[in-house]
Amino acid sequence: MPHSSIIKDISKPSVITSVRKPSYLSIEQSLGLEGEVTLNGAKNAVLVTIASLLLTRGTSTLFNIPASQDVFYMIQLIEELGATVTFDIPQNILVVNTTHLEGTQVSADIMNKLRASVLIMGPLLARFGKADLAMPGGCVLGERPLDYHLKNFVKMGVVVKEENELLSTSVTKLQHRNLLLEYPSVGATENLVMAATLTEGTTRIINAALEPEVFDLLEVLKKMGAQISIEVPATICVTGVKKLKPIEHAVILDRLEAGALLLAAAITGGYVRIPQAPAHSMGLFLTKLQDIGHTVLIGKNGTGVKLKAAKHMHPVSIRTAPYPSFPTDLQAPITALLTLVKGTSKVQETVFENRLMHVRELVKMGAQIELEHGVATIRGVEELYGANVIASDIRASCALVLAGLAAKGTTTVTGVNHWRRGYQNLEKKLHMLGANIELCE
Ligand code: EPZ
Repeated sequence: MPHSSIIKDISKPSVITSVRKPSYLSIEQSLGLEGEVTLNGAKNAVLVTIASLLLTRGTSTLFNIPASQDVFYMIQLIEELGATVTFDIPQNILVVNTTHLEGTQVSADIMNKLRASVLIMGPLLARFGKADLAMPGGCVLGERPLDYHLKNFVKMGVVVKEENELLSTSVTKLQHRNLLLEYPSVGATENLVMAATLTEGTTRIINAALEPEVFDLLEVLKKMGAQISIEVPATICVTGVKKLKPIEHAVILDRLEAGALLLAAAITGGYVRIPQAPAHSMGLFLTKLQDIGHTVLIGKNGTGVKLKAAKHMHPVSIRTAPYPSFPTDLQAPITALLTLVKGTSKVQETVFENRLMHVRELVKMGAQIELEHGVATIRGVEELYGANVIASDIRASCALVLAGLAAKGTTTVTGVNHWRRGYQNLEKKLHMLGANIELCE
């Protein structure tokens, strides 16, 4: 295990002793962003990987771990269960020892900080046959129920008791089943696969989510000793084993951070190079950038992307859906770009029922967007102008920062907790590319 050079003890979160002025991001118009940037590990792979370590007993080491707020929340969560964690922030290395896991109960206030907290359910049921949780939190993108998770856990023999936001689940012995998901839910797929790794017999999760972050979890579980294969159509087969061992793993890099950085070049008329970008898992997003008119060059074997912004852009239509369709997590950011594309573009959000809240904030900046039944009709304008806007979720915060980079004047974005939850120092990377952006505490 690599010796951690600088270890920040995160078990004692700083206590706010006085009410602070809300932090905000201040952005001045910054045209022609240019340069080369690196990527952090993918938040939506990191969080589930941390949860998966509960399946093992011993010390695991994870690389590419961003020091974003959701990662700190996830660390707090597994520490409450008895894990010991050291986080070498400068090196982005997380060492987790799960030898002394003792609990199966987690306090509500940490559970409802993030959606990924629900992903400890599968591992706890598999290891201990019990998980006493609260409803998860996370971005308010709609109702975000847990029925796909719970219905299928019940099929595996789990007894679920829900009462006022508390979720008590227990099982004597998980039963292997063929579980048909009515929707390829990322979280439900991940929870059920993790539970199945220690369930005797073969469990099939049919109509499973196939996002790159799900596949990275499958790699982690196979490294632990899980027996997993893929069948068509979209079926993950898991044959249970007796126990799983700790691992070392470098989490995949973040296609969503890469998307944000490419859009920063596109919206400011710049030129950005991301040598590590996982182009192979960004297909439709990159195609759409090309359809808009940008020059997008992809590196050999599908790694690395360069984007040179177009002078004249063309309107496009976008419809989000599960992978490999257009990712819902890049819908708000690309909407910001489309506000400046001459003509009429359309963006349809089909994954979440309430993920267009950034639209009203973009309109405050001069965008012309009409909303109807989950479809945003965007009429391009000559320019946006700076305004005080509010981020409602992680990806909305990204959209508003991108708009601020292009807008005339100064834009302030509040709701910075969302920005911090989803990204590590993205404002610093944008600054390195020439952006006039500051995180004001
Ligand atoms: C994961 O959320 C990601 N979060 C989300 O990223 C991402 O947008 C989403 O997958 C879709 O790709 C993490 O991985 C931590 P779902 P998840 O279950 O698992 C409904 C970000 O910005 N649904 O695939 O919660 C649900 O309400 C975040 O990084 C049910 O109805 O997504 C939604 O409408 C945001 N019942 C749809 O399915 C259920 O039991 C897709 O949800 C579960 C989900």
